[in-house]
Amino acid sequence: MAGDLLVVEDLRVYFPLYRSLLERLLGRPYKIVRAVDGVSFTLGRREVLAVVGESGSGKTTLGKAILGLVKPVSGRILFDGVDLARAKGGEARRVRRRISAVFQDPYKSLDPLMPVGEQVAEPLLIHRMAGRSEARRMAMEMLEKVGLTPASEFYWRRPHQLSGGQRQRVAIARALITQPDLIVADEPVSMIDVSLRASILELLESARRELGVSVILITHDIATARVIADTVAVMYLGRIVEYGPIDAVVEDPRHPYTAALVTSTPSISRRRPPRFPVKGEIGDPANPPPGCRFHPRCPLALEECRRVEPPSASDSGRTYWCLNPLGPGGLWRGVEA
Ligand SMILES: Nc1ncnc2c1ncn2[C@@H]1O[C@H](COP(=O)(O)OP(=O)(O)OP(=O)(O)O)[C@@H](O)[C@H]1O
Ligand SMILES: [Mg+2]
Repeated sequence: MAGDLLVVEDLRVYFPLYRSLLERLLGRPYKIVRAVDGVSFTLGRREVLAVVGESGSGKTTLGKAILGLVKPVSGRILFDGVDLARAKGGEARRVRRRISAVFQDPYKSLDPLMPVGEQVAEPLLIHRMAGRSEARRMAMEMLEKVGLTPASEFYWRRPHQLSGGQRQRVAIARALITQPDLIVADEPVSMIDVSLRASILELLESARRELGVSVILITHDIATARVIADTVAVMYLGRIVEYGPIDAVVEDPRHPYTAALVTSTPSISRRRPPRFPVKGEIGDPANPPPGCRFHPRCPLALEECRRVEPPSASDSGRTYWCLNPLGPGGLWRGVEA
């Protein structure tokens, strides 16, 4: 759609696995992990999209593809109209610096020896957006903005002299300093003390509000997602199974997998829906089940779910891929296990 910041079309990211050098040389992997397997969505400006799903559903791989850290085997990623796979030279660099990343573990993403202020300033130098003294001044300002005050003191500290929450503030400052249009934040609060999570999410929210940034918030926790997201994409084994406004999707899901996620998150709602039972664990993305990928675990699965890939369906603003969805209010009625 015109005006969207990001358009992802039928994206696939596969990882070939080899047991031996010979297999690698012959290009004959013993299996292919389909980490992202046909994902499409759009992201508007100033929109916060949460990508949720349990471990192994492909969330990080999707984020990495958007950040240019892994190469898709097919599909397209259009950023402000530019096809990321086709952009070259100056155009590629210009587009790339408009997308920033925040990762789960700020200890790993920061240099242990370098003063944190210098690390915030660094992207400005790398992208030649400012000279050294200007970059330092901007980094001081950014440290203030993310609540590390007095900035003149924090600037010279090393990462180990900060708390986990403060380190993540540094990582966010570093992500924001280049004035990106999009931040991909992969589990930004899952290593942060529970008591500090809300303040870190608030920082991302204020980046959206004050700087107009769009955010892709990757999290396994739908309650975290709900704090700041407008929209949610629920992923299962490399696919989106439900997508739409987060309140609608969480309060009144259509896909049984969404229902399972919601009811296994106790803090999600003051009214507690009955637990929605699912069996077993997430399947193998190298060998996804035929038909609907969720059918082996689904309490509502029909015979045809084993064979037929569910087409998309839409109602009340959300889209889902399921042959036997919950009806409106279905979450509250529970399921006969
Ligand atoms: N570089 C890689 N090589 C091979 N397989 C990979 C690679 N990266 C990811 N995978 C596999 O792809 C699938 C999706 O992984 P991914 O990390 O994207 O999931 P996730 O949803 O982020 O999970 P988590 O919640 O644990 O972070 C998993 O089965 C994973 O083992
Ligand atoms: Mg991950």
